[in-house]
Amino acid sequence: MTSLHERPHNGAVGDAVPHESASAHVTGHALYTDDLGVRLSNLLHAWPVQAPHAHARVTRMDVSQALNVGGVVRVLTAADVPGANDAGVKGDEALFPTEVMFHGHAVAWVLGDSIDAARLGALAVEVEYEPLPSLISIHDAIAAESFQGAQSTLRRGDIALGFEGAAHTFEGEFEFGGQEHFYLETNAALAYVDEAGQIFIQSSTQHPSETQEITAHVLGLEASQVTVQCLRMGGGFGGKEMQPHGFAAIAALGSVLTGRPVRLRLNRTQDMTMTGKRHPFHARWKVAFDEGGKLRALSATLTSDGGWSLDLSEPVMARALCHIDNAYYVPHVEVHGRIARTNKTSQTAFRGFGGPQGMLVIEDILGRCAPLLGLEAHELRRLNFYQPGEATPYGQPVRHAERLEDLWAQLMVSGNFEARHQAVRAFNDAHPHTKRGLAITPVKFGISFNFTAYNQAGALVHVYKDGSVLINHGGTEMGQGLHTKMIQVAATALGVPVNWVRLAPTRTDKVPNTSATAASSGADLNGGAIKNACEQIKERLSDVAAGALGVHPNDVRFEGGLVFPLGHPDKGIDFKMLVKDAYHLRTQLWAAGFYRTPGLHWDRVAMHGEPFKYFSYGAAITEVEVDGFSGLYRTRRVDILQDVGDSLSPLIDIGQVEGGYVQGAGWLTLEELRWDESDGPNRGRLSTQAASTYKLPSFSEMPEVFNVALMERATEDGVVYGSKAVGEPPLMLGISAREALRQAAAAFGPVGREQFLGSPATPETVFWALEEARQAAAAAQPGNVVAADD
Ligand code: MTE
Ligand code: MOS
Repeated sequence: MTSLHERPHNGAVGDAVPHESASAHVTGHALYTDDLGVRLSNLLHAWPVQAPHAHARVTRMDVSQALNVGGVVRVLTAADVPGANDAGVKGDEALFPTEVMFHGHAVAWVLGDSIDAARLGALAVEVEYEPLPSLISIHDAIAAESFQGAQSTLRRGDIALGFEGAAHTFEGEFEFGGQEHFYLETNAALAYVDEAGQIFIQSSTQHPSETQEITAHVLGLEASQVTVQCLRMGGGFGGKEMQPHGFAAIAALGSVLTGRPVRLRLNRTQDMTMTGKRHPFHARWKVAFDEGGKLRALSATLTSDGGWSLDLSEPVMARALCHIDNAYYVPHVEVHGRIARTNKTSQTAFRGFGGPQGMLVIEDILGRCAPLLGLEAHELRRLNFYQPGEATPYGQPVRHAERLEDLWAQLMVSGNFEARHQAVRAFNDAHPHTKRGLAITPVKFGISFNFTAYNQAGALVHVYKDGSVLINHGGTEMGQGLHTKMIQVAATALGVPVNWVRLAPTRTDKVPNTSATAASSGADLNGGAIKNACEQIKERLSDVAAGALGVHPNDVRFEGGLVFPLGHPDKGIDFKMLVKDAYHLRTQLWAAGFYRTPGLHWDRVAMHGEPFKYFSYGAAITEVEVDGFSGLYRTRRVDILQDVGDSLSPLIDIGQVEGGYVQGAGWLTLEELRWDESDGPNRGRLSTQAASTYKLPSFSEMPEVFNVALMERATEDGVVYGSKAVGEPPLMLGISAREALRQAAAAFGPVGREQFLGSPATPETVFWALEEARQAAAAAQPGNVVAADD
């Protein structure tokens, strides 16, 4: 058996193959959960009854009128639940609530022969509410001390000592918005029951095992009686890590009660008004630098807006605290994290899982403080990088810290940073009403679930008598290319061409007790399990081949569909022939594989340990141009260098980097969730319920030049075939877009001043930022008097 990271030279890993479903995606042949329902007869459709209050008690519900609507078959209410009336894992998410916790909360579900019947039925359900006081904004929640879950503190050194006698001390506040996942496929589930009462659910879920667990507890069944399958998702982005469970449970409950298959698919408005989003944050901070600009101390309080229930808010906060250092060494740290409870959707995982929020705080601090220290922002960042041998505030040594330096230096050259920096300056001097900004920011992102137990995975690999291979693993496919990578891993491990390997959909009855496909660790974990299964099979095949080839089993090699003695590919026998012989010799040709990440430990109360297997590094340069009259801007050029170890699949990885950057830049510059905070009748309603009011990045926002490169010769020991995770880290490269906008806005004012910038930095926000800069410029003109209220 070879070590985990070693790769044979002719293996399929590292080949630039397209996504396994690429042609099906673009031709419309790819099936999604909701496409499967139309193939069933007798199908029922589910529609929610959504409450029109941010917070209210349900005082009366009468479903009789709904049952008179033609085509309505049943109305599901709390009285129908045989098990636990709860859709979450924290016991705080009533599936059928008697207390409405947010505007749009579903209080009942109607099943109909058609969608229209179910929809009209939902309108006919009579519900009376007693409105209760509600908290919508994070400020109101902080003022009311409305918090939920555990509060945690990350600590290192002596914060008082850090501030004592520091050359420079600054403090500030920063509040930034959440983000809608806007996966193209909304939440969907399809359930039916077999003759023995066993439930089969197709669900668009990143966490089939937990969807199974929750459905079982709602139905009062054991896990073995519920099977969940996920064919693929049309995007998840963390939004389908917890949110799908309740919808699957509703479909399953409806199916149990009616004996008919039940389909539930949220339309876009329902998905946006009912499901959780990225957590908005509020931060208050104080920072100290020494004479030369090195960080000495950071104290901060981060408050996330968790919405109405806990969901994943605690681990999201833990990851935020573990990423507030980003790439920088800070000797004295004390950061508190707490979760506000508001009457909004229950905020959840979103690509980066709190990491982006933590990082944004320190990057905002550096962007604001650099001019006050008389330094360029890129110099200040570089100056504070972790050095080899240093550790994070939670005690994890920063392995390969030197990669950060290398990567940064390489990108500065390939992105022609210095010359462009001069060019931007010259441009700005020559253009009073248009300014350009150029920024470079780094990313250091910890890979593994903070919660140690989740870092395990299983796989099932079958070799059939004809030599064809079928693989199954615990990870789900959401467009990120995990299945493509897993096919490449299996083909490499067995030494066969990729087209001999077929992959079957993720199912809880094939691989049990799986973790969510999340934390970017899908390929590391499931790849480890698949490789392990393949190696078990190969070991048995080696024994058979050794006899035929007349060599020791250790000297048998598998490559390109041939099996041969080490060093003698010419003496090879056909893999398929070998498999056939092995079958006749009664050899087990399939195996279950398992992998668990070694060396992790984490004390979540002390916020201390080594929660991550390794760090992913990356950096991005963004150049923008801002119009001084409107705040409108465009992205002129983006250059990215990302460390993915030795890539398992470079086309997939480059796609992940591009998509991650754009999604991150979208969060920070375009996408703005607005909730009605008035005391009017729509208090608590999400005002941005559709793509018409919620601005997503599209072709028109793409950078005019977009250069993405992967770091070369970056083998990561101890990870499958030397690769590194790629799913989430690039999202945080989008911070460079925000920092470039800050530079451009600041260029409208005098040098050396702190430039504040709200988030998201929409054109409107950028306009107010540059207006502030212009005011400062006017005030600095001798003889100019600026009215205080200007
Ligand atoms: N890429 C696409 N196309 N669609 C997605 O939903 N989700 C992201 C990332 N990339 C996502 C994606 C998130 S939040 C995570 S955690 C990882 O993919 C999960 O997959 P992995 O562990 O296989 O990288
Ligand atoms: Mo990703 S936010 O870990 O699903």
